[in-house]
Amino acid sequence: MSVTANRPLAGQRILLCVGGGIAAYKALELVRRLRDAGADVQVAMTAGAQQFVTPLSFQALSGYPARTTLWDSAAEQAMGHLELAHWADRVVVAPATADLLARLAHGMADDLVTTLCLATEAPLAVAPAMNHRMWKHPATVANVGLLRSRGVQVIGPDDGPLAEGESGPGRLREPDAIVAELAGVAPPAATPAAPGALQGLRVVVTAGPTYEDLDPVRYLGNRSSGKMGFAVAASAARAGAEVVLVAGPVQLDTPPGVQRVDVRSAAQMRDAVDAALPADVYIGAAAVADYTPRAFSPKKIKKTGTGETLALDLVRTPDILAEVASREDAGLKLVVGFAAETHNVADYARQKLEAKRLDLIVANRVGVPGTGFESDDNAMTAYWPGGERDFPPAPKLRLADGLVELVAERLRADAR
Ligand code: C5P
Repeated sequence: MSVTANRPLAGQRILLCVGGGIAAYKALELVRRLRDAGADVQVAMTAGAQQFVTPLSFQALSGYPARTTLWDSAAEQAMGHLELAHWADRVVVAPATADLLARLAHGMADDLVTTLCLATEAPLAVAPAMNHRMWKHPATVANVGLLRSRGVQVIGPDDGPLAEGESGPGRLREPDAIVAELAGVAPPAATPAAPGALQGLRVVVTAGPTYEDLDPVRYLGNRSSGKMGFAVAASAARAGAEVVLVAGPVQLDTPPGVQRVDVRSAAQMRDAVDAALPADVYIGAAAVADYTPRAFSPKKIKKTGTGETLALDLVRTPDILAEVASREDAGLKLVVGFAAETHNVADYARQKLEAKRLDLIVANRVGVPGTGFESDDNAMTAYWPGGERDFPPAPKLRLADGLVELVAERLRADAR
């Protein structure tokens, strides 16, 4: 599902809200263009929109029944309106009439479309279409200003002939141009998992580095901050899971509702993970040392008078993730690993997915300025057998929400 020039909206879930204006007929074409651009599209219509076009036309083009009212119990049963609001990665209102803009600007929720727009956390874009005098009216100007000030993307309108034989600003922007404008704005980084998405599940997360002691004062460590694993643990707890966080040596606060076990070395981390199992989900976000000194020197290792070099005798640590993934008795439904790579990210990640028998692997490219180990931000791609999802650069807290949402999705898709 990687974003390409031809499919600039690949993998995005777009909720198209259609308002009641003559330009509603162009929203049919917009559905096709959004789908051509790679988006998954669901449609909600106002009562006015249904005077101009039928829900059936939208159903035929989007592949989903178009939603028309809050009070349709069959539709609500299939996907409740709050679920639909949550489903969307972004919401697009086209055409946005003067009335709809006013109701959106003032936070009203007096029909399905305005309720969805109020209930969603996804970014909102509006494509206005109306008579040019209505567009220029101070009330509309103020409403559009209010929407813009809240970060709403306003697309158009265009200047030109209007339906009533007049001319001026008020034409709905052409569907291709709307798609181009949507594609020009970075896709939303992540949708958080619904509250309760992991309810009743036990999740074990590892985080941070491990320190492998050489002698009483020295150790082999790495630069992992633990921020990503802690954010994932926090997000999983918010999604309702019972979370055990096995943390290497880091200076981070324990997230609310999370049971934390502090460890130092890879061997201790493995023991703590063993003790935390069985569980439903294992997420190995720790940067576990691959090697540890063969023997710990109880006395500080001294410089020798002649030696210009010092060889350390190291042995492999247990691969906790691979061990966990191959255990039949751990009850795991989903095993998630992380891969930090400097190059050929996708190839190495997919190899690791197979070699360690994982259900999901999250790869990030190390060495990109502003992302990675010690940063608060990151960018990552998740791979699973038969799919992948890009998470553009964003704060780790938001990426963690996106990952936990993906975990919930994968749990629903294929029980291990
Ligand atoms: O093979 P590599 O070390 O790059 O794999 C990274 C993944 O494996 C991470 O999820 C990490 O937590 C896990 N791992 C582990 N035990 C090790 C080494 C890595 O669990 N000894």
